Amino acid sequence: MAGYPARPEGIAYGGDYYPEQWPREVQEEDIRLMREAGVTLVSLGIFAWALLEPAEGRYEFGWLDEILDRLHAAGIAVDLGTPTAAPPAWFSRKYPDSLPVTREGVRVGTGGREHACSSHPAFRRATVELVGRLAARYGEHPAVVMWHVHNEYGAPLGECYCEASVTAWREWLRQRYAGLDALNDAWGTLFWGQRYGDWAEIDAPRWSHTVVNPAQRLDYARFSNDEHLAHYRLQKELLGGKPVTTNFAGTVNCKSMDLWTWAGELDVIANDHYLDGERPDNHIQLAMSADLSRSLGGGAPWMIMEHSTGAVSWQPRGIAKRPGEMRRNSLAHVARGSDAVMFFQWRASRFGAEKFHSAMVPHAGTDSAVWRDVVALGADLRTLGEVRGTRVTAEVAIVWDWVAYWALELEWRPSGDLAFLERMSAYYEALWRDHVTTDFLPPSADISDFSRYRVVVLPSSYLLTEAAAKNLQRYVEGGGTLVVSYFSGIVNEHDTMHPGAYPGVLRDVLGLTIEEFHPLRERESVTLSAGGAARVWSERVRLTGARSDQTFSSGPDTGHPAVTRNDLGAGTAWYVATAPADLRPLLTRIVDQAGVTRPRDLPETLELVRRDRYVFLINHADIPATVPDVTGLDLLAGTPFTGQVPAGGVTVVRIPL
Ligand code: GAL
Repeated sequence: MAGYPARPEGIAYGGDYYPEQWPREVQEEDIRLMREAGVTLVSLGIFAWALLEPAEGRYEFGWLDEILDRLHAAGIAVDLGTPTAAPPAWFSRKYPDSLPVTREGVRVGTGGREHACSSHPAFRRATVELVGRLAARYGEHPAVVMWHVHNEYGAPLGECYCEASVTAWREWLRQRYAGLDALNDAWGTLFWGQRYGDWAEIDAPRWSHTVVNPAQRLDYARFSNDEHLAHYRLQKELLGGKPVTTNFAGTVNCKSMDLWTWAGELDVIANDHYLDGERPDNHIQLAMSADLSRSLGGGAPWMIMEHSTGAVSWQPRGIAKRPGEMRRNSLAHVARGSDAVMFFQWRASRFGAEKFHSAMVPHAGTDSAVWRDVVALGADLRTLGEVRGTRVTAEVAIVWDWVAYWALELEWRPSGDLAFLERMSAYYEALWRDHVTTDFLPPSADISDFSRYRVVVLPSSYLLTEAAAKNLQRYVEGGGTLVVSYFSGIVNEHDTMHPGAYPGVLRDVLGLTIEEFHPLRERESVTLSAGGAARVWSERVRLTGARSDQTFSSGPDTGHPAVTRNDLGAGTAWYVATAPADLRPLLTRIVDQAGVTRPRDLPETLELVRRDRYVFLINHADIPATVPDVTGLDLLAGTPFTGQVPAGGVTVVRIPL
């Protein structure tokens, strides 16, 4: 693996740059302003296929040569894009059957982007032709420090239902299941008489007027992930040499790709993150996305490849960032392990779909708060250069599984309120408010990976394999603390029930069985014996070894356990059979009992994260925050840390060795 790009030095700073949208004078001003702001890296060429190959087999690289040379002369490094997310009009016209088809059977039109199917042979051929040329021409260019393949695989194009996809799907199934008997068994095709006698009878799980076989749908999601990944690999093999990445469409938000399967194929993890403008506490989602990005790379430095200086243009309302918010957001990514701060985009576009999107150079120009903040951030990042390469350590891990996400959110589950991200966020947020830094792990992680953590949390693992459950049990027996939320461990990788009572493969480790689910009505809540309300879920827990920690004091399971603990071997397994309105009292107790280190006496709104000897303090409140136990140099101010973080401010303290 080529690893993190060697250049630029320090924390890389910049964004997506589309010089092709601007005349030469503006490009010249761009380079001057980039230097003024301390920009060190720009992503180039991401959607430029139509300019690089204006007609099939006719290439025009001159404009790119020129801008690369000029950026290089100005000391600005380039993350060179491959433009396959925007196939040119001539391509779609010549190969109309390369246009993706939705599950509902609608063929996607042109005029947008992401309008070629990753499985289509002509698209793959054209990709190889173009990317091979880019690699040969620019692989040794001194400005190019890394490659940026495609753009956000999986968003908006996740699954495609075109003919080429169905052909590839049948081949994928043959590889996965040596014979049709194995497929019929795995998919449970005895149900509703769906048995297959010939591979050619198997179609994609298209929209139907009733529920389509869930095992078939899960495999189609896996297949679609693999097809996009194959398209990425095709390019990666051609590029070689310098580090290669692709920008994830938001680790937390892009449901369609199983990013654990991608992580090992990237030299450096790159994530795009946009705030949900409507949520006042959206910085917690940002933290979760950043922690998941770091975890995908096994803790190695990663890159925030896109975020925004202000409003985005694709949400119901373009909520601008408040003073100081962009700085807090940027430095929160750095705090959580990013060695880059990159934006979409450098200069706001005058035309096209994203003209109301914020940028580093806004339409208002340089006499604007945004520009002044951009310049100030560049100066901060220069000062923080020494942080590069340092690592975040965590004592708590959350198990995150995209396949469980897909499976949970298929149709006809016991409650329409079961939502993967909702439970993930609830647990993550409670830990965040306690200043507990969290890593993420796949359920297939090695026992040695689990054992590095004092606490492992399973907020939403409806689908869990027997092997993963056994591993978790060994983790507990070896002294770990496991916390499991309701509706976990129910089905195997084919969405087939684990035999016996719920919770299937987790019965032994949790020391309980569940007799029946009692999901609550919409807006119904129940109360708990320890105080507080709970929503969504209630169930009849029967203890087979665990002890009750709290019971339901109202609702269908009054008097029966709602929270349990099972001491097993040297460790403990907790079970939470509902969605408490406030998870924090319980989680605080659990992490404290497990001996997790966490700072005390801090306001909830003060985010504290450590990268080796650097302590990042991000104050999300509009009053100053007092931080009692941190001493050292305030790196950005260049003076000893006073123990106070200004309202809305960020302080980075280098503690003495
Ligand atoms: C990203 C995309 C960018 C730009 C941005 C706007 O998802 O990769 O090209 O569209 O959103 O927020």
